[in-house]
Amino acid sequence: MDETKLTRRDMLRATAMMSLALAGAPLFSAVEAHAAPKAPQLPYAKGSLAPAISQKTLDFHYGKHTLGYYSKLAALISGTKYAKMPLEDIIRSTASNKSTRSIYNNAAQAWNHTFYWQGLKAKGGGMPPDAFGADLMETYSTLAHFQDVFIATAASVFGSGWAWIVKDKAGKIDIIGTQGADTPLTMNKTPLFVVDVWEHAYYLDYQNRRSDYVQAIFYYLANWDVVSKRYNAK
Ligand SMILES: [Fe+2]
Repeated sequence: MDETKLTRRDMLRATAMMSLALAGAPLFSAVEAHAAPKAPQLPYAKGSLAPAISQKTLDFHYGKHTLGYYSKLAALISGTKYAKMPLEDIIRSTASNKSTRSIYNNAAQAWNHTFYWQGLKAKGGGMPPDAFGADLMETYSTLAHFQDVFIATAASVFGSGWAWIVKDKAGKIDIIGTQGADTPLTMNKTPLFVVDVWEHAYYLDYQNRRSDYVQAIFYYLANWDVVSKRYNAK
């Protein structure tokens, strides 16, 4: 099957998943929680993020890496108590146990990637809107300063990881980096936006220029409407 062609059913399903995510709900519905988590379809065509993220990168990053984490997770949890848990619960229940490290890594990578893809769109970027935009400016003064801090944080993640905008329990906006599969879901923080800074996310398009890739996301792809709804939801 050509993964670049979304059927009408795929689009309706993607729209339903987006509505749940926008409302701050878990990424997976209650019905789906009774089976191993399945990867949501991308909410856009694979070529639509080019040239900031090329279709070739999308083909590998979604088709191989993202779907790979979901399929490895399904194999690891088949027949276990985790098979019937929502993805978020799998992550939280396996995070601190060495014996469940593989399940945690694949579950967290599946969740992080889904959150990443849902935070991007064609013709995105620019100034964040609404209360989120106002509070972001109160914290960082200017859009340029916010981007500088985020890009510096992304650059400081050693090896593979993620750069996040999060909200802490007091409602304060912060920017953090995490390594490997680690996710703010286990840190008592609410994730609002993430950029994948594993090399597989940018090497085909930017080689070793991680900062250029992150900057391009802020210029062209950040879906601030989704982030604003996440900010208002919790
Ligand atoms: Fe990735």
